[in-house]
Amino acid sequence: MDPITALLHEALEGVRGLDAGAPASYIPELANADPELLSLAVVGPHGRVRVVGDVEQDFTIQSISKPFVLALALADRGRDAVLRKVGAEPSGEPFNAISLEAGTGRPANPMVNAGAIATSALIPGDGVDDRTARIVAGLSAFAGRSLWVDEQVYASESGTGDRNRALAHLLRSYGVIDGSVDIAVETYFRQCSLLVTARDLAVMGATLAFGGINPVTGDRVVAEAVARDVLSIMTSCGMYDYSGEWLLRVGLPAKSGVSGGLMAVAPSQFGVAAFSPRLDAYGNSVRGVAVIESLSERFGMHLL
Ligand code: DON
Repeated sequence: MDPITALLHEALEGVRGLDAGAPASYIPELANADPELLSLAVVGPHGRVRVVGDVEQDFTIQSISKPFVLALALADRGRDAVLRKVGAEPSGEPFNAISLEAGTGRPANPMVNAGAIATSALIPGDGVDDRTARIVAGLSAFAGRSLWVDEQVYASESGTGDRNRALAHLLRSYGVIDGSVDIAVETYFRQCSLLVTARDLAVMGATLAFGGINPVTGDRVVAEAVARDVLSIMTSCGMYDYSGEWLLRVGLPAKSGVSGGLMAVAPSQFGVAAFSPRLDAYGNSVRGVAVIESLSERFGMHLL
């Protein structure tokens, strides 16, 4: 085992005993996750991949789709058009808050659900399938392999997604969403239901770390300016109402998801991802937060 993989093992074993929190249950299918699952992946320069723990385990990407769909919207529409529909300010509120700027109705940022639904609605396409296909193709380019939707999780999300539907109706009442609310939310549910592994998320993060070039495939996925915009918003908003303390303790742009994934980016150095289903009160993975914090300390990754 190479020395860095040995350190990753050590970091993972250091958090294995943490048993606080519980898997998300408001999406019924996510409550079935095995809470003991734990994996960690790091992708560095030249696409060198290191993975430890339950590395074969896949899980739905959930909110970690949000920065990548933001990247696609920025690439398709440009920054000004995106900012007309969604802000770039930390909300200090939970991920599912009713986030509407007075007057404009713009959600605070693209990382909370309201902002992510608005961002997803900017992806061009004729209906749910067409828009989802663009999103799947885009996120697959970030991951360097073909991703697909977990139909059971999608059905579970869609079947219980009244709060997101309500958010989308509010957005449409302000003209933040121009077209069909149904198409917007079902596309958003499908993007959240894409299956990934910790390795995939680390490759996706590394693509942002290396200015939009996937270091495993060598393909340019988005322009450098787009990757920088996405990382800026992840830095201020990626961990919801824990974003400030996360920046203080870990010092890296990051994004969490309610299935227990967590991705962090050390610009020009690494994409890092952890998976562990038990969540804290912010909806962030308890052991994911702890293990990435320990890696940031160990490798001196804090940006500041
Ligand atoms: O819309 C939802 O509530 C989920 N599909 C995604 C939320 C999420 O991942 C929040 N992250 N911690």
